[in-house]
Amino acid sequence: METMIRFSSITKRFPGNMALDGVDFEIRKGEVHALLGENGAGKSTLLNILHGIYSQYEGEVTIENSKINFKNANEAIEFGIAKVHQEVNLVTELTVGQNIALGYEPKKGLLVDYRGMYQKTDAILKRLGCRFKSSDRIGTLSTGEMQMIQIAKALFHNAKVISFDEPTSALTDKEVNRLLEIITELKSNGITVLYITHRLDEVFKIADRASILRDGKYICTLDVQGITKEVLINNMVGRDVAAFAVRHKPLCATKEVALEAVGLESQGVFKNISFKVHRGEILSFAGLVGAKRTDVMRAIFGADPMSGGQVKIHGKDVAIRTPKQALAHGLALIPENRKTQGFVKNFTNAQNMALASMDRFAKGIFVHEGKIKENCDYYIKQMDLHPDDPDYQTNSLSGGNAQKVIIAKWLTTNQDIIIFDEPTKGIDVGAKAEIYRLMEDMVANGKAIIMVSSELPEVIGMSDRVIVMCEGRMVGELGRDELSEESIMHFAMEG
Ligand SMILES: Nc1ncnc2c1ncn2[C@@H]1O[C@H](COP(=O)(O)OP(=O)(O)OP(=O)(O)O)[C@@H](O)[C@H]1O
Ligand SMILES: [Mg+2]
Repeated sequence: METMIRFSSITKRFPGNMALDGVDFEIRKGEVHALLGENGAGKSTLLNILHGIYSQYEGEVTIENSKINFKNANEAIEFGIAKVHQEVNLVTELTVGQNIALGYEPKKGLLVDYRGMYQKTDAILKRLGCRFKSSDRIGTLSTGEMQMIQIAKALFHNAKVISFDEPTSALTDKEVNRLLEIITELKSNGITVLYITHRLDEVFKIADRASILRDGKYICTLDVQGITKEVLINNMVGRDVAAFAVRHKPLCATKEVALEAVGLESQGVFKNISFKVHRGEILSFAGLVGAKRTDVMRAIFGADPMSGGQVKIHGKDVAIRTPKQALAHGLALIPENRKTQGFVKNFTNAQNMALASMDRFAKGIFVHEGKIKENCDYYIKQMDLHPDDPDYQTNSLSGGNAQKVIIAKWLTTNQDIIIFDEPTKGIDVGAKAEIYRLMEDMVANGKAIIMVSSELPEVIGMSDRVIVMCEGRMVGELGRDELSEESIMHFAMEG
């Protein structure tokens, strides 16, 4: 089969860090090629090189046998190499069509040929099965729809290669299915697809081959057909990761109620939310994306208002109107959207982890640097953070490693009741296991955990009890013995 892209001895160095180390492999024309590896393995860096976002590197990239070295992403897109980002940057003041054609609008003489432009962009949207039009404003669209605009943009430029970097992490289940369908269609139209994900089931749905990076080094390329998840995982982590979403320690839920919710309501969002979580217990909230689980948690934490109901902590009524008040009551919430709600840009890992617990690290009006580092070292080991350096800027970490820092920041607060919203989103298989161990240690130490998760294996493996929500209501409750994908989905799809 013909080669589309060849990476030859690609090495990329950052100060004090080698992100890619002599990477050598090729992508075939017209295939869907998955790029896999743990957090910090170098996946995003490799795509950034392909797309001209990094133009300084060692080695050679060839596309259809000619050497390229794009200076920026526009040069790449003019060459037909397009990317779909997880963070969408669209101009909200412009229409859908203007965004798709931005900078490359068809002209009639000196003027933009708007009619021609909208005709062309509408035809692309139709091809993608989008329900919105070129003349619509961006403001009204969902994340999934905005992603479609990026794909439309790639088609507008007649892309021959489209790369996706963790495209499904912010999509609803329906949108995920649609995206995977579209990728299969792109492939049948001869477009070559590069696809980064931490969700291995997606690999089996769409990819022909998968290449694996580990610590910046190329490990292997595998034909997806006929192999198992375990083979992929073992190559990614270089060791056996035995069944990791399981409880290794005895269950330890007590009868002591840590937090109780009574009839919580937020008009038009959720209602009749009543539950108890006990010390030593992991209580999960399952449901489809859109079940409003995050909304309930944010309201309990005081990040969003509530229109009715009562929260009790250790048996006492509390009135929590702000996250600060929640923290004062021993409650922490580790948010789902950690990219935007998380760390200070030019702070080091040690500083970011200490950020929410400064009272503990204060020494008079000074800060106890030694203790801050010690705390950071502990979580570096616990969570397998890369690079394992407390003085490294969190901003320069790979996406998944930055998420680990934010989780560590909240664990550092040492609160009694911790709400984890999608604790392992964007986190690789090896580090997931570390996070599960931390959760187990926490409940063994008498803390209470509320987990919101869309990953059924982790809900089933880790929970003492599961509440299922659908469209803002609690629709079912399952004990540990009753947990299965079927039993949870049965409730989640109701209504
Ligand atoms: N701008 C930068 N400055 C310094 N180091 C960087 C920079 N960008 C990436 N790195 C480092 O390069 C390595 C590879 O990062 P990269 O983002 O490519 O990983 P990744 O495989 O995409 O991981 P993830 O799954 O977490 O997104 C990491 O160790 C990261 O810390
Ligand atoms: Mg990445």
